[in-house]
Amino acid sequence: NGIITIDPGFKNTGSCESKITFLDGEKGILRHRGYAIEELTKKASFLEVAYLIIFGELPTKEQYVKWEKDIKHHSLLNEEMKNIIDGFPKKAHPMGMLSSLTSALTAFNPATVDITKEEQIYGAITKLMGKFPVIAAWAHSKNLGTPLNYADNSLDYIANIMQMMFRIPTEKYVMNPIAVRALDELLILHEDHEQNCSTSTVRIVGSSEAGLFASVSSGVSALWGRLHGGANQAVLEMLENIQKDGGDVEKYINKAKDKEDPFRLMGFGHRVYKNFDPRARIIKKAADELFADLGTNDPVLEIAKHLEEVALNDEYFAERKLYPNVDFYSGIIYRALGFPREMMTVMFAIGRLPGWIAQWKEMRLNGEPIGRPRQLYTGYALRKFKSFEER
Ligand code: CMC
Repeated sequence: NGIITIDPGFKNTGSCESKITFLDGEKGILRHRGYAIEELTKKASFLEVAYLIIFGELPTKEQYVKWEKDIKHHSLLNEEMKNIIDGFPKKAHPMGMLSSLTSALTAFNPATVDITKEEQIYGAITKLMGKFPVIAAWAHSKNLGTPLNYADNSLDYIANIMQMMFRIPTEKYVMNPIAVRALDELLILHEDHEQNCSTSTVRIVGSSEAGLFASVSSGVSALWGRLHGGANQAVLEMLENIQKDGGDVEKYINKAKDKEDPFRLMGFGHRVYKNFDPRARIIKKAADELFADLGTNDPVLEIAKHLEEVALNDEYFAERKLYPNVDFYSGIIYRALGFPREMMTVMFAIGRLPGWIAQWKEMRLNGEPIGRPRQLYTGYALRKFKSFEER
């Protein structure tokens, strides 16, 4: 009818129907294909949940074995990808490398670009699930200046990520099962979160019939920002600054409340959760358990808990329904597992990959139309062109 309603940030706009993830922000509920996140994190593995999210059902034992085998089959990267890695400066941000190298995968796998049949899509999915963590690990090694590790297919998906990230070929590497289980649980928590910024990006890029790898590469870029996945790195930076400031939590709370100051409490607030983020509850407990199991401590965890307590008792945060989100405690766990700050959003991306894939596949198989929002034009009416002399 020609009438356009604008909704900046799409706060009240639904972009699609979806059967993948149910989220109730008022009640703090998150379910994938009907299964509660609390149960999935305790009873399933990352790859099992990935299968559930992407294909709609928990895998049978046979389906799981095939799924894992097919993914492992694709855990080699083309050797020429190393030339691209070589070309990056040593301190290049790993999210930039991850996005670029995911896009570069299209060049080495052109057959995955123009795909419409389910078996072609399955091939592209297993390829990406196999190769994406290798790229992430290579970006990490590039930053460290250590040799690039290959996948060890005798290990499961998560243990393999740990060895690719941390094994130094000349040294004996001892895998810590506590760390592997903690990472498994943390990555399950990140697997999908319906139409968030990066997922909407993946769907909209894919809606032009761009391939899976190109669409996911855009999702990585969207995730990078500090208002989205980049918040986990920003939280750690904030907590370390508070630590340097002698633990002065109130100073940062006041900064966050000051409307003249652009600073926001990182890891607080959410577009959809208005009472609590169920993932944050699970992560907070997981952080406590991990430190108890490892027999270590991190003063930053105490600062985080103190900050949370003060903020939750503050009128400003209560009025605006601002609670800790998934990124508030995740950085502390990544730090305990040995990841530097710059790698934290990369780990989020590894966790979110199944969600991006599932949403891209759903959009593609539903034959959804190209995403193309409208606008309200507020610029000039018709003007007469001026030559250089007249300007
Ligand atoms: N610190 C201080 N004030 C805040 C914060 C915060 N973290 N978050 C929101 N507010 C205030 C905001 O200033 C506004 O106040 P007022 O009504 O007086 O103008 C009010 O709360 C509503 O905020 P909004 O920006 O309109 O809310 P939004 O839904 O557009 O933004 C958000 C959601 C997550 C981007 C925002 O809460 C934020 O910037 N949080 C910090 C960054 C962060 O932790 N991001 C991770 C999000 S969860 C995981 C993920 O997506 O990856």
